[in-house]
Amino acid sequence: MTTPYTSQSVPHDSAHLHVTGKAQYVDDIPTHRDTLHLAFGLSKIAKGKLQSIDLVDVKNAQGVVKVITASDIPGKNDVSPAHSNEPLLAQDQVEYIGQPIFLVVADTYTNARKAARLAKIVYERELPVITIDQALKAESFFEKPLVYEVGEPDLVISKAPHNVEGQIELGGQEQFYLEGQIAMAIPQEQDGMMIYASSQHPSEVQHKAADCLNTPINNIRVEVRRMGGAFGGKESQATPIACAAAIAAKLTGKPCKLKFDRDDDFMITGKRHDFWIKYRVGFDQSGKIQGIVFQHYIRCGWSLDLSLAVCDRAMLHIDNAYHLPHARVESYRLKTNTQSATAFRGFGGPQAIAGIERVIDHIAHHLRVDPCEIRQTNFYPSPRSRKLKKTHYGMIVKDCQLSEIFSELLSTSNYYERRKAIREWNQSSPILKKGIAISPVKYGISFTLSHLNQAGSLVHVYQDGSIHLNHGGTEMGQGLMVKIAQVAAHEFGQPLHSVRISPADTDKIPNTSATAASSGADINGMATKIACNKIVDRLKDFLALEHQIPTEQVTFIAGEFQVRNETYTFKEVIAKAYTNRISLSATGFYATPKLHWNRFKGQGRPFFYFAYGAAVSEVIIDTLTGENKIIRTDILHDVGRSINPAIDFGQIEGGFVQGYGWLTTEELFWDNKGELKTHAPSTYKIPTCSDRPLDLRVKLWENGWNKEQTIYNSKAVGEPPLILGISVLLAISDAIAATKSSYPSLNAPATPERILTTLLQS
Ligand code: MTE
Ligand code: MOS
Repeated sequence: MTTPYTSQSVPHDSAHLHVTGKAQYVDDIPTHRDTLHLAFGLSKIAKGKLQSIDLVDVKNAQGVVKVITASDIPGKNDVSPAHSNEPLLAQDQVEYIGQPIFLVVADTYTNARKAARLAKIVYERELPVITIDQALKAESFFEKPLVYEVGEPDLVISKAPHNVEGQIELGGQEQFYLEGQIAMAIPQEQDGMMIYASSQHPSEVQHKAADCLNTPINNIRVEVRRMGGAFGGKESQATPIACAAAIAAKLTGKPCKLKFDRDDDFMITGKRHDFWIKYRVGFDQSGKIQGIVFQHYIRCGWSLDLSLAVCDRAMLHIDNAYHLPHARVESYRLKTNTQSATAFRGFGGPQAIAGIERVIDHIAHHLRVDPCEIRQTNFYPSPRSRKLKKTHYGMIVKDCQLSEIFSELLSTSNYYERRKAIREWNQSSPILKKGIAISPVKYGISFTLSHLNQAGSLVHVYQDGSIHLNHGGTEMGQGLMVKIAQVAAHEFGQPLHSVRISPADTDKIPNTSATAASSGADINGMATKIACNKIVDRLKDFLALEHQIPTEQVTFIAGEFQVRNETYTFKEVIAKAYTNRISLSATGFYATPKLHWNRFKGQGRPFFYFAYGAAVSEVIIDTLTGENKIIRTDILHDVGRSINPAIDFGQIEGGFVQGYGWLTTEELFWDNKGELKTHAPSTYKIPTCSDRPLDLRVKLWENGWNKEQTIYNSKAVGEPPLILGISVLLAISDAIAATKSSYPSLNAPATPERILTTLLQS
């Protein structure tokens, strides 16, 4: 059945509010007259003991109402999403430059920030661990390395006809959401606390704030209307900001707001994990991988945060799209005195996939063939194949569509002709060199912590037939709300404007998971469908009873009930049902089926399904300066049967841009004292309009269809397209390769400096 609202490109529900400046963010909520403003006092050293903290000048500064230290916190001094090792305010020890030590409460934002700088803190300095190398030397691990292995990779590599080994360094990435971290807390009667947060995870904010205030969870209410971008950076790391606001509100009895300035946001909060990946691979003459070993050395920062889950997901994506019969991955989780690395779109997947894509390129260079062929040789078999293969963690890959997606993209992008033309062009161009590359993505959809794959929804129909909807997901720009509204409009057969979605609110949906792992629409969409169907079923029962016929004889199609020969509109039935005392409200609950996963054994089915896509990028580099430009990118992406193609296009384009930004322009630099030197747009460069491909052609794969029963057979789209940015890194590497015979061991971000360094290597 096709009805208007699935598979339709309706605009983002807030698009007109975004562009007219009317969309309300936390900082736009009208404040009480006596609202107080907060600022953290930060550690100036990367590691050491706190010997003495003199806050007299802070307390006496203009407008200061209160100064809060660890010992003032009414409950637990912990904001960790998992393992309780993350104090909100440092107690005896500081572990990175930028770590909050105390909290200033003042009458204005500026007064709070000024006062925060007046503390006199004496530290007993210790030698910090900043880089991956230093962490390895100091054996600074969070846990012993986790190893997943299948077959006998060492033996197979040693016997293989060919082998290569190498390494790649991948830098971190700042989420750079446009709306910085912020929260406001307002005390309520009887120990209640209302928190307006900019968080992907309202329930975690609620739980952690309850711990900090030493109060039951039901005293705390958290509302998230929308975030001005999050990208994983507000999955766990919005929690401390909200907890600080709640503590200050509790201790002063006044509304309190904490808002990070951009530099503070950079200095305090976590970023994408940087990886150093080593590889050793054995393969045959056709480039088929026989055995492979990866080492992942991962800078996790000062606290665990979500690092274990991020590093695990990286281990699950070492194969990307390729069958690895004998494989081992060793994952080293390094503790360093830097910001705590956290979730960032892809959650460890992009780094691991960059690793295997590098390997494929290296193999191709060794055999002197087009890397595109090595990719196709190693793909998991297509769904039609009788010999399906398992991943290195034992999950059968039943739906690998990449052979088809690849051949379609190779032909629509004219890959072979362009590659040949580029080779010829490079012969006659001594300074400027062009490069081209195609890269695929296969991305696992579901939280790897299986119990998180659950969602709830609450649907009300009012007497006039208008619909109110609330679900456990949060809006961060990705278009979740409009997609879920489309689900409700579709299930009730009503116009989209009759559905109103209210802000995510812990009072309406309890115990939610973070909106993350790209599964927001999948799980909240399903929960909403279940809730809507309950109401429709009730209405059918009611009509059946009224007409003295079996319920099966009542049908509901496109907003109309058919009973014998009579037709009733949705609105008519709602009005009637109300006067007959039928409940017009329902909750829906969904738990993703088929999942089982043991993270210690590395075996099971952690993912419900995979999302696929591929990109071809062509670049040009200047071999004298390292400057570069993306000439053209073609993307073909599988979103299953899209719920909203316009939104999905936005996600694909945005994800791709963010992906090549990570790999080309965005560079985080810490000095040897551990101070982050790139902490504002002046020094940290996200891609701008002028960096986008001169020619960008994005297509949704027309045969896309999810064989698993997801909401209308769609596929998640939030994270996978970011990984297509790898095609740009590979294309730059291809351009460099035109100048030399050895394999260019290009690290990321491939800034002009790094491109030059690689050009100069022998
Ligand atoms: N798109 C926008 N515009 N802003 C964001 O912050 N976050 C990404 C992705 N797309 C993000 C975004 C991340 S990290 C995830 S996990 C998904 O959206 C989360 O939303 P979804 O599960 O509804 O796709
Ligand atoms: Mo996205 S990194 O799962 O918030």
